[in-house]
Amino acid sequence: MWEALWQWLWLPIDASRAHGLEQNVAWHGRLMVATWGFLFPISIIITRFLKVTPRQQWPNELDNRFWFRVHVAAQVSGGVLTAFAVWLVWSPGSEGNLPWLHRLCGWSVVSLYCAQFIGGIARGTRGGMDEPAPDGSIHGDHFDMTTRRVIFEYAHKTLGYTSIVLAAMAMLLGLWITNAYIWMWLGLFGWWCFSITVYAALQRKGMALDTYQAIWGPDPNLPGNQRKPIGFGIQRRNG
Ligand code: HEM
Ligand code: HEM
Repeated sequence: MWEALWQWLWLPIDASRAHGLEQNVAWHGRLMVATWGFLFPISIIITRFLKVTPRQQWPNELDNRFWFRVHVAAQVSGGVLTAFAVWLVWSPGSEGNLPWLHRLCGWSVVSLYCAQFIGGIARGTRGGMDEPAPDGSIHGDHFDMTTRRVIFEYAHKTLGYTSIVLAAMAMLLGLWITNAYIWMWLGLFGWWCFSITVYAALQRKGMALDTYQAIWGPDPNLPGNQRKPIGFGIQRRNG
């Protein structure tokens, strides 16, 4: 019985087509799944839910930069992997509707990545004691929640999640075009179910703390605490 199961897992999803891949396409798929299927979802879960780490004495200890370091390291290295993976399959012209749709999703994901990267760099100044304004005051785009920072937060969160959804479509189309083995589909679906469950559980535990509060604290007189938090399900605490 186990042997039959094992053999079934190693069948291509569409029995009418063969599963034969060139090495460059196989590596394109592996790298894209590793980056967009695993690395980026983990980075986003850490970015959203670990603005305050479990042993941190918030609000006495503010501005834990763990999440930010992980986010930037993951997103930058994922960008390098994505560029390499695209380079592996880059060729002009293709046949059939499915590769065309995969290309459309794929290039949209790459464009969104570039927009996210540029937006991340152009998000404005921070402010506060550590990074004061040129006049020595504590003002900065984040501390004051200027229009520039507000636009960044709305755009970055919306485009970030959109890119993940489009990447999921690109991955499914890629698996279909290459007639991937059944275990690959099951592995990816299993992982998605697991990560969505973790996301929902951490959300229910109240861990999606507003970035502004995580960095600057809960004082209601601070400029950013006087406006509503940005993004779905973002939570505030009273200290
Ligand atoms: C987020 C995930 C993915 C992204 C962003 C992505 C992106 C791309 C892009 C931009 C191209 C077109 C390159 C060109 O213009 O020549 C492409 C082609 C291709 N990708 Fe992906 N890809 C992803 C996942 C996958 C996966 C999981 C597979 C399957 C193993 C796959 C298989 C292919 C194949 C076979 C082609 C060539 C299609 C053709 O034009 O005939 N891709 N991909
Ligand atoms: C290296 C460039 C990047 C920088 C500097 C950066 C910076 C940030 C910052 C500061 C936040 C927190 C925003 C807030 O809560 O107010 C954030 C959140 C986020 N980033 Fe990035 N980011 C970068 C690249 C990316 C990329 C390439 C993606 C997606 C492909 C991405 C997806 C996200 C998502 C989805 C969130 C929101 C998570 C949540 O709270 O639900 N980021 N990023």
